[in-house]
Amino acid sequence: MKKVCVISDLHLDHNEHILGIDILTDCLIPFLKKNKIDVFVFGGDSGGSLSEFIRLQKKVVSEGIVFWGIPGNHEMWDRKEKDSWSVYEKLREFSRPLVLGNHAIVGNMGWYDYSTASDMYSTKELDKMKGWMDKSFCRWNGMSNQDVAAKMLADLDEDLSSIDKNKKIIGVTHIVPFKQFIEEKPWDFRWNYTNAFIGNTNIGKKFLEYNTKEIFFGHTHSKRYARVNGVEVFSTPFGYCRHNEWAYSNPTSQIEHSCEIFEID
Ligand SMILES: [Fe+2]
Ligand SMILES: [Fe+2]
Repeated sequence: MKKVCVISDLHLDHNEHILGIDILTDCLIPFLKKNKIDVFVFGGDSGGSLSEFIRLQKKVVSEGIVFWGIPGNHEMWDRKEKDSWSVYEKLREFSRPLVLGNHAIVGNMGWYDYSTASDMYSTKELDKMKGWMDKSFCRWNGMSNQDVAAKMLADLDEDLSSIDKNKKIIGVTHIVPFKQFIEEKPWDFRWNYTNAFIGNTNIGKKFLEYNTKEIFFGHTHSKRYARVNGVEVFSTPFGYCRHNEWAYSNPTSQIEHSCEIFEID
């Protein structure tokens, strides 16, 4: 048996700046050790750079814990790299399918294909990403959101199809994979516009085509659970340390609240 811990949206740069602590050394690693975690799974948004993700990966590995992880949209903001594709490709090595006994961890950050968008807006309108920071900071070399999403979905399909049919798949994505987690507020134009940049339901559908048992996601910073077509789906966001996102003021308690821990054979 191996004990697995899944969490996303640590946003280390922001949270460490506000709290004045080293979240990895002071909170996360002691928490993983205390819970005797063998495998740490990260669901994206370590912070706004590739180096933040690598810092997390190196720290976890240095403690003798297996690391598997995907980036989120925030790592794609890195200004030191050539473009966002460079960040994506460099971090791919940490999310190659990982077979552990009867299970396999498979995933992809995913991108916005507008499958969670309100039909009030045209594709042209959504492509402007008005007021959404990814528009300013991500650099996809002129590719549209939908083309970026299609490439990442193809990468996910390639990874899923490489797994033996008898393995139980633990799926991980950064953005919201099913519509039931998308909150609609018909009276709030801004909210409905932004829903386009929250999820991708084709990622959810893709996982359901395979022998997937659990799916984990992040991005929205609200803790959610639902059973979808017999598959257990959890969000695991740590989120930003502010009253409307954290259930606890203590970061270790917030880690405990946001993560999922389970055993696999
Ligand atoms: Fe996030
Ligand atoms: Fe995110």
